[in-house]
This record gives sequence, structure tokens and C-alpha cells, in this order.
Amino acid sequence: MKNRLVCECYNIYVEDIKNEVLKGARTFEDLVKINRIGVMCSACIGDGKRVLEEIKTELGVD
Ligand code: FES
Repeated sequence: MKNRLVCECYNIYVEDIKNEVLKGARTFEDLVKINRIGVMCSACIGDGKRVLEEIKTELGVD
């Protein structure tokens, strides 16, 4: 999946999420604990969850 900005508040890109999945993150809640995605304005939550699922499919992890 192409790299792009997902969370403007915390400057989180697709590649940042991918790196966290490679290190073991599996749920959106895991990402929130790691980088606080969605915590400030919450505008990126829907997109962030879609990006996470797409990355997991791409990497073949559950
Ligand atoms: S854009 Fe992600 S918390 Fe605001």
C-alpha cells in the first residue's frame, strides 16, 4: 500500500503503521497505545482502522 499521511495530529504515516504491525501490533487499540493514533481529534480513526486491516492482509497476519 502506498505511503501517505494517516493521522495529521501525530504525523503518522502508512509506513509507521506497517512497522508497528511488523513489530507485533494487531489491533487499532495496540496502535493507540504505541503512537496515540486517533486520540487528539479522532478524525483518522475510520481511515486508520482500514489502513491497519489492509496492511495486515498485505502482510498475511491476523
Ligand atoms: S488526525 Fe489522528 S488524532 Fe487527529
